[in-house]
Amino acid sequence: MQLKIQKGNGLEGEITVPGDKSISHRSIMIASLADGKSEISGFLEGEDCLATIKVFQKMGIDISRQRGVLVVDGKGLKGLQDPSSDLDFGNSGTSVRLCSGVLAAQEFSSILIGDKSLSSRPMKRIIDPLSLMGANVSSSEGGTLPLKIEPVDFLRSVKYSLPMASAQVKSCLLFASLYSQGVAEIEEKVTTRDHTERMFEQFNIPLEVSRSKAAKLIKLKEVDTIKPTNINICGDFSSASFFILAALITPNSELLLRNVGVNPTRIGFLHALRHMGANIELVDQRDSFEPTADIVVKTSDLKGITLNKNLVANMIDEMPAFFIAASLAEGTTKVKDAQELRTKESDRLQVMSEVLESFGVKFRLEDDGIIINGLGKSGNFKSAEINSQGDHRIAMASSIGSLRADGETTILDCLNINTSFPNFVDACKEVGINIEIA
Ligand code: S3P
Repeated sequence: MQLKIQKGNGLEGEITVPGDKSISHRSIMIASLADGKSEISGFLEGEDCLATIKVFQKMGIDISRQRGVLVVDGKGLKGLQDPSSDLDFGNSGTSVRLCSGVLAAQEFSSILIGDKSLSSRPMKRIIDPLSLMGANVSSSEGGTLPLKIEPVDFLRSVKYSLPMASAQVKSCLLFASLYSQGVAEIEEKVTTRDHTERMFEQFNIPLEVSRSKAAKLIKLKEVDTIKPTNINICGDFSSASFFILAALITPNSELLLRNVGVNPTRIGFLHALRHMGANIELVDQRDSFEPTADIVVKTSDLKGITLNKNLVANMIDEMPAFFIAASLAEGTTKVKDAQELRTKESDRLQVMSEVLESFGVKFRLEDDGIIINGLGKSGNFKSAEINSQGDHRIAMASSIGSLRADGETTILDCLNINTSFPNFVDACKEVGINIEIA
């Protein structure tokens, strides 16, 4: 799929972005392990989350749609059935890594596969700590998929300090720890998204969380049963970020984004942009199990910044959009400590540097970051043909960046947008973006 986008002006209106991807995955997983029916509203019907549904259906969980609500009939912590063929996680790193924690504790073997991009992503980061728990997980020689998980007699609770900032690794261990003997202690020195912790609390799973200056420590005991619970999923801040960017960089624009999740561990992008001078307001903040708000964004003159390294983990998925904002800011923006970007659906430091190159931006790429010389408020990108290399967030960030290109821009290899934001093109059109599927 290719997209063609024209230069933009005067975006206006309101958008309700689709459900949060991270929370949608977790809701299927935990509801499948509960004893009985949970109803989930606001679920993201994107390909990544549909892969999670299929995986649990294959393990005997009845998941159906009733009047726009997903009903998951959980079979209990020990109720999953042997899938008897490979479990296919498609493009989803979150799904394969989190589900590995559950599968490590089952009495059947499983083989976990994925698409080309997922099959090149690092899995040693979960294999190592799961092995410390006594799990039997093996991978291909390069530490990638397929994973083979064999049953073991029991899992031991682990005391583990995460060597990298990864909510996926943390969450994999939290799911495995539901089954392990004793008390698990998981420490993170850099705070990452806490959706698993919040979801566990919502399902009444007792977690003990303590914080010191240096780290956050989560303690979790083995759990016998999980009570089914209804969940209402907020809009995905990461999907909203593309429209925040669109309003900021397009002249004469104002957008209202409704019902967006504003969990403090997810909104580093918002803090960074405000620091750059962005006019972004949170209105009608609601405190549900995930904090939610409406967001009003207006065209803004942005100034380059040195990104505070503590923000990186809390805006890791928004980095492609952030690089576009930085490229249109006045002055230089410096990003460091962002090497995790190289392990995503694509090597996002490398691929985004190619996008910026095509747009005519001057930058210096480093091993763990980038230094971008912004074009300023009166600068524009060169209209170009951009290759998003099958990465949804790069395709969407580049599409929005095209609003400030001199003429028509073509974005190649965009089908992967369906993993996280299936109605992206329609949402763009609704607010006045001239975009077509070519
Ligand atoms: C996610 C965590 C992040 C993020 C991914 C979703 C999650 O990955 O990039 O899109 O739902 O836990 P890491 O935790 O590996 O950084």
